[in-house]
Amino acid sequence: MKVALSTDVATSRIRSQAYTITYLNTSGSILTHLPQLCLILQDCVNEGSSIGFLAPLSLLEAEKYWTQVAETIMKGNLHLFILTTSATSPGRDTPPIILGTIQLSTIPKATHLHRAEVIKLLVSPSSRRLGIARKLMEHIEDFARGTGRTMLNLDTATGSAAVEMYRRLGWEEWGICKDYASWPDGSRCDATFFRKDLV
Ligand SMILES: CC(C)(COP(=O)(O)OP(=O)(O)OC[C@H]1O[C@@H](n2cnc3c(N)ncnc32)[C@H](O)[C@@H]1OP(=O)(O)O)[C@@H](O)C(=O)NCCC(=O)NCCS
Repeated sequence: MKVALSTDVATSRIRSQAYTITYLNTSGSILTHLPQLCLILQDCVNEGSSIGFLAPLSLLEAEKYWTQVAETIMKGNLHLFILTTSATSPGRDTPPIILGTIQLSTIPKATHLHRAEVIKLLVSPSSRRLGIARKLMEHIEDFARGTGRTMLNLDTATGSAAVEMYRRLGWEEWGICKDYASWPDGSRCDATFFRKDLV
């Protein structure tokens, strides 16, 4: 059983709405939120985001992905957070609706312990432009700082909304790799690479 960290739950407000960011660091907690995690992943892929999957993304494939995430988390090289709002919670006994999620991937090499990669920042298509990604990015930067990281890296599809968002959040764009990945329809896309010093 993993030790609970101070980042397990953090509540803040976005446009007067209360939001909670929760650290999912056990297989059980991921299982609890599995249907919602699958839904946000499917929604983002199926609306055209290049995040590692072709569309249409089936529920089975989505479940397989989150199962692999759970396994990697248990090895200690991955950290997963979800952002939920109690206002959309369907009831006491059902898990709250996930509006956003983000992961931090650490590199288990002695020469890479100062840095980590931000991956799979996903905001539900119906909850965009509300500041949810900004909240998740601020949270994961604080978390990374707390684990002694001094630099973060990420890459995203060139031409996507995320490129402008990372610029707005103060990330340094350092290069573009042509034909790095594919859009969900299978056509090639370039990737834009970013870095950020954690001061
Ligand atoms: C990219 C994404 C995460 C943005 O999430 P979001 O919650 O809508 O972003 P926020 O509302 O927190 O916006 C943060 C900043 O980025 C800017 N921004 C967000 N979306 C933007 C867009 N489509 N065009 C231009 N700027 C944008 C906002 O203006 C905001 O800056 P401001 O606060 O100074 O106004 C969301 O569109 C998404 O999930 N896309 C699909 C998945 C994806 O591509 N993820 C990135 C993988 S690396």
